[in-house]
Amino acid sequence: MRKKIAFIGAGNVGATCAHLCFLRSLGDIVLYDIIDGLPQGKALDMLESAPVLGIDVSVIGTTDIKDVAGADCIVVTSGSPRKPGMSRDDLLKINAGVMNTVGQAIKQHAPNAFVIAVTNPLDAMVTQLKRVTGLPKHRIVGQAGVLDSARYRTFLAAELDVSVGSVNAMVLGGHGDDMVPVRSYTTVGGQPVDKLIKAARLEEIEVRTRNGGAEIVNLMKTSSYYAAGSAVYRMVEAFMLDRKEVLPAAAYLEGEYGVNGLFAGVPVVIGGGGVERIVQIDLTAAEKQAFESSVAHVRELVDAMDKVLGA
Ligand code: 2OP
Repeated sequence: MRKKIAFIGAGNVGATCAHLCFLRSLGDIVLYDIIDGLPQGKALDMLESAPVLGIDVSVIGTTDIKDVAGADCIVVTSGSPRKPGMSRDDLLKINAGVMNTVGQAIKQHAPNAFVIAVTNPLDAMVTQLKRVTGLPKHRIVGQAGVLDSARYRTFLAAELDVSVGSVNAMVLGGHGDDMVPVRSYTTVGGQPVDKLIKAARLEEIEVRTRNGGAEIVNLMKTSSYYAAGSAVYRMVEAFMLDRKEVLPAAAYLEGEYGVNGLFAGVPVVIGGGGVERIVQIDLTAAEKQAFESSVAHVRELVDAMDKVLGA
């Protein structure tokens, strides 16, 4: 029996990630969406590429949430995407309502799934999804750090004219404008990045990284999906193949990094057990301060969401 990966939200990010899972035959795929025709059409289109590529996994598209039943892994991308001029925080109200509906469905139909939340504003949405599903902290995580770190790596590789594979980087904190590129854990061919790029230029690259989501929105008038879908894929793969990969992701913290009862981007090990552990790294004083201020913003965001929800 193949394992099952369900996508709640078959828009650009969900479908891009589903396609990568399909191409790597990670499991049978269910695409769910509320827009009738969209998940069915994308699923059929993907399936019709299977003979060309020699792929045997099944792909179904559905508007019936019950079809996610028994999924091993669920990727939640549903909600409204960010429109030009809109901050991630503007999405708070509408998408928190979506998380309530989706969370109840997961609780009812797939209570044993490993859930990866992607909907923005990410840190608040993953919080709401955890509350509604009641999932333990190792079964629910938010995707942000893999994407933010990928952007940082892309820009650093271009700056130094080296392969992206030679750049290791870690972006932590919230998935907002104050996310924290951690220079002390960013290396190029093993050398610390701040030995290779002057501080002022590095700062410019980090500003571009922080604004990476908005840069794409301004160009395409909708959110990133190749990079975002690939980032989610990397997390699905780590879980499905039990890779035990160290990845930056929004994890529920209970004392780690001095944070209690909040999701924040930190390095975690993702394997077949879900979020198998949180990795503690030493931050410099400046990084620690930036991380704390990013986490403070996450707390404000969650408080704002609770206000909107009347909690
Ligand atoms: C991004 O940063 C959509 O939040 C996503 O592009």
